[in-house]
Order: sequence, then structure tokens, then C-alpha cells
Amino acid sequence: MSGHGTPIPMRSSPSGPLTGVAQVPGDKSISHRSLILGALAVGETKISGLLEGEDVLDTARAMRAFGAEVTDHGEGNWSVFGVGVGGFAEPDQVIDCGNSGTGVRLIMGAMATCPITATFTGDASLNSRPMARVTDPLALFGTRTVGRARGRLPMTIVGAENPVPVNYKVPVPSAQVKSAVLFAGLNTPGKTVVVEKEATRDHTERMLAGFGATITTEETNAGRVITLTGQPELKSQTIAVPRDPSSAAFPVCAALIVPGSDVLVPGIGLNPTRIGLFTTLREMGADLTYENERTEGGEPVADLRARYSPNMKGIEVPPHRAASMIDEYPVLSVVASHATGQTMMAGVKELRVKESDRIEAMASGLRACGVTVEDGPDWWAVTGMGPGGMPGGATCVSHLDHRIAMSFMIAGMASQNPISLDDGTPIATSFPIFEPLMADLGAQLDRTTG
Ligand code: S3P
Repeated sequence: MSGHGTPIPMRSSPSGPLTGVAQVPGDKSISHRSLILGALAVGETKISGLLEGEDVLDTARAMRAFGAEVTDHGEGNWSVFGVGVGGFAEPDQVIDCGNSGTGVRLIMGAMATCPITATFTGDASLNSRPMARVTDPLALFGTRTVGRARGRLPMTIVGAENPVPVNYKVPVPSAQVKSAVLFAGLNTPGKTVVVEKEATRDHTERMLAGFGATITTEETNAGRVITLTGQPELKSQTIAVPRDPSSAAFPVCAALIVPGSDVLVPGIGLNPTRIGLFTTLREMGADLTYENERTEGGEPVADLRARYSPNMKGIEVPPHRAASMIDEYPVLSVVASHATGQTMMAGVKELRVKESDRIEAMASGLRACGVTVEDGPDWWAVTGMGPGGMPGGATCVSHLDHRIAMSFMIAGMASQNPISLDDGTPIATSFPIFEPLMADLGAQLDRTTG
């Protein structure tokens, strides 16, 4: 439930070499899905390495409200006693998903074909984000929805009593929409089919298969065709959540731009649908290597080593790569500011409807720090100032967006003057240990009085 507290202004100052080991938290996407599928399974699902960020804690609370028994055993170990597919109880309070688009959209899908009614809300950021992308396909199952103008939260969902299976072509590249439809398909007789033109993160498909559902993915000329057979009995699982590549992005990018740095980020999930940033950084000339590659819990994992890389060049990021790095463009724009030449990021309209309009939020902050940024409806371009060339010295605005807040704090570590931030509270949604972790590596981060 972020965004409800007192703002915490922060400042990041030019830092010495960043060195050491960065143990980043568990994957946010996999953490949400572990709790939701655990709640829909029969028996006890044991989860280790769960991300204990506010977004995921809101999902844990929501699963309790729908009748699952969710227990925190400490140090990232959780258990969930599920109610079985179709077994969700009707919550007696409004479900507050805080800042989390993933949480609310996945949960809406999971309850949409149960004969219950639930009302959802969130913080100012979440309540301004589009939900029709989820409620449109849910309507095809027979689910009814009443929300605010232009499909905004707060919103009440009336689950379909007699859901019919759906064949849905996802109009925007979105793992959240795909997952909401698949979760709705769980309590629907027959086969639910989702077609996506561009591959988005596939944790839902992997995890549904792991819980025992019959689910297939076929690559066709029309895209990926995912077919789920409804009304399976999901069997409880033991899940080890890999560490989040989207969180790893911050210490990795900091190491690349702070002179003399050498940082190891162990145990990072390297699912091919998530690693666009690392591929892009290597193309730019980053000294970024994968060590000790292995498979853990069905997901590819490696230790990342990032070293200071003064010779990075701006590149054109291929638009087809966007879905695999959609959350990483803000921090990429910081690295691009320290490269030589222009970095062009096209095909990224979705960035405008994230926790904030991420193109606008980064472009205005970087411009205030002296960087030239051009932008259009679905693209933006950063003109690099070379290593250490960013003047900095501005106060940037986080817009209730964790990734914007952390990106500017990374920028301040390598700019000529400190960078201030109006509010660091959103960081806790996905990376609650960001400040001590970065400080341990040698970063100079302070909380200021404004
Ligand atoms: C997520 C999907 C992405 C991503 C978000 C997590 C998920 O959103 O931005 O942080 O876990 O499914 P979209 O599906 O809207 O692209």
C-alpha cells in the first residue's frame, strides 16, 4: 500500500568504486504468481525467496481475503494453504492492491470466473492506470465489471456464474493481460486460448504447468498460441523464487557507470523473456558476464558480474526486444546518458501506462540533469554525454514509481553533482533493501529533509 505515507526525500552523491556482492530480492512477477497459484491449489505450497516488497505483500493480503491461509515464516519463507480452483470466498472488504498493476490484474483474472463479487482499489498511480485491457477479455467469459470512467479503479468485478471458454488475441504486448485470461480460464470448462503476437514473460505458463495444469504453447505465424484446459486440480508445490533481473538491473547499471566498480550479483533469473536489458548492455559494450549458469526451479539462473565500462556506445534498441526489458528502460536511459552517441528506444508505447508515464518521468528528470532527451508517442532517444559527463544537480520526481526513483538514485552515483529525489517511498514496492544494499557496495545515498 505505497504512496499513503509521508514522502522520504533522498539524495544520491557521486560515489567511489562500487564493489562487492549484491544479493537482490526475489522476482516480483514470480512472487505474485506463487501466492496466487498457491491460493488456487489444494494443499500447502511452500515458497522460499519470496519478494517481501509492498506489491507482493498486498497480494498476500488479498489471497487471505479470498480465503487462502497465507503464513509468513520469516526470511522470505512463506506457505499458502489453497482453496482449490473455483474455491475463492467472497471478500468482505475492498481489496487494496496498493501500487501493483500486476497484483490487481492477475487477481481480477483469478476471481473473474468464480461466483463472487469483489471491489478493487489502489494508490493514486494504480487508480489512474487502464484496466479495460483486462476487463474486456474477462467480459467474454461472462464476467461483469463496474468501474470509474475510462476503465479506472476503484472497480467492482462480478464473477461469471457459468463461464464460457475464450479464444483471445492480446492486442497489446502484456504478460499481465495474458495471465489474467489464463487465470480466468482455470475455473472455466473447456479450452481457453490466448494468442500473443510478441512473446511476453512466460512465468504464468511455466508455473501453471508446474502446478499440474494442462497447458501448451505453440509458435505459429500468428504468434504464440497458448492453450489451457480448464478446471484442473492444481497440486501444491515447493517454489524457490529466483532473484529478480529487474532489480539486478540497478546494481549492474550502477557498476557499469561508476569508475573502478566490480560487482557480483548472484542467482539472477535469466528467463529469455526477461533479459533484454542485459543483451542490450552487452551490445553497447558493457563488461557484463554470466557466471555459473544453471537451472533452478525450472528457471535459468546465473551470477552476473558487472565492471566499470567507460567505452559504451549508444545503440538502436530493437523494438521487438521491448517486452523482454519493459521495466528496464528507465535505468537503461541512465546508462545511455553515460555512453557515447545516441541510444534510440522505439516501440515502447507501453512505457506511458506503467506506474507512471516512464518516458515523460525519465525525460524530464534527465533533462533537468543536463542530458538531451527527445521523445515521441512510442519512442525516446538519449544523447550520451560520455563517461561521467552528466552534470546532475537537479531534484527529480519519482511520480509514485519505484523504477523511476531508483533510476535517478543510480544516476546520482556517477553524475558530476548529487541528484535529489522528491520521494523515495515507492522503492519499497519492489526493492525494500535498495538503500542498504547499494550503500554496502559503496554508494552514497542519504535521506534528506527536503
Ligand atoms: C509483469 C508484466 C509487465 C511488467 C510488470 C510485471 C508481470 O507488465 O511491466 O512489472 O508480472 O506480468 P505488462 O504485462 O503490463 O507489460
